[in-house]
Amino acid sequence: MTTVIDGKAYAQRLRETLAETVARLHSKHEMVPGLAVVLVGEDPASQVYVRNKAKQTVEVGMHSFEHRLDETTSEQTLLDLIDQLNADDKVHGILVQLPLPGHIDEFKVINAVSHDKDVDGFHLVNVGRLNTDGGGVVPCTPLGSLMMLKSHLGNLAGLHAVIVGRSNIVGKPMAALLLRENCTVTIAHSRTRDLEELCRTADILVAAVGRPQMVKGSWVKAGATVIDVGINRIQEGDRTRLVGDVDFAAAMKVAGAITPVPGGVGPMTIACLLHNTVQQAMRQAGIDVADNLID
Ligand code: GUN
Repeated sequence: MTTVIDGKAYAQRLRETLAETVARLHSKHEMVPGLAVVLVGEDPASQVYVRNKAKQTVEVGMHSFEHRLDETTSEQTLLDLIDQLNADDKVHGILVQLPLPGHIDEFKVINAVSHDKDVDGFHLVNVGRLNTDGGGVVPCTPLGSLMMLKSHLGNLAGLHAVIVGRSNIVGKPMAALLLRENCTVTIAHSRTRDLEELCRTADILVAAVGRPQMVKGSWVKAGATVIDVGINRIQEGDRTRLVGDVDFAAAMKVAGAITPVPGGVGPMTIACLLHNTVQQAMRQAGIDVADNLID
């Protein structure tokens, strides 16, 4: 029997734990963690994400600050806003929604956010810490994926993890996290030879390429755990449907466990953003914080 990993249920449990932590911070330390989200431009998918982030931030009892800037906003105006948020005591986490318009240097903006308020784990200090002592903030999508993997499989030591995709947001941090769990890790990408065969050697297969249903059922080893990070909109007649990077129906017949799209990794990404905000707020207040609040 294949297990469909219920990301929605995991995310709900994580939000409940976070809501309890937030309530405790308020009653014991008189603090309310605050998350500022900055959106530049009108990208429809980004607008949906930002709305969901704000709604869930408030639902767990935190403050949400939204800053929507015009598509033509200059890089300097954005950097000035980030400086202002870095200095604001009510703001414990800052997220600048990506992608940014082409005239703005993403690298510069990401690293302008104080690493103590970075909730994406994209700042160079946090990237460095993930790859060394593990003490920084971890990118949300890989963190959510790891939580589900550990909850489902327990100890991951010695397992072969194949990650298809080498992005800074998912592929590379996922590899670092799985290496910390003592997996043997392979990162595959568009130039990888014999990709299908390589995927068939994976005990854990993570698909993060942004190509609808690219990973076929025949690429999956019997009993493997499949994490599908893709969120792709495909047109079917006059309606659109969300599909992952994995051919779910075919992979279901072979895998031991698999995350669905929607309802798998997606809900965990936002819940982990809230987790990272609480973690940063606690660090800033000098309150002891476990590496992972739900461990
Ligand atoms: N755009 C798509 N995913 C992300 C994410 O995890 N963080 C930010 N800041 N922007 C994104």
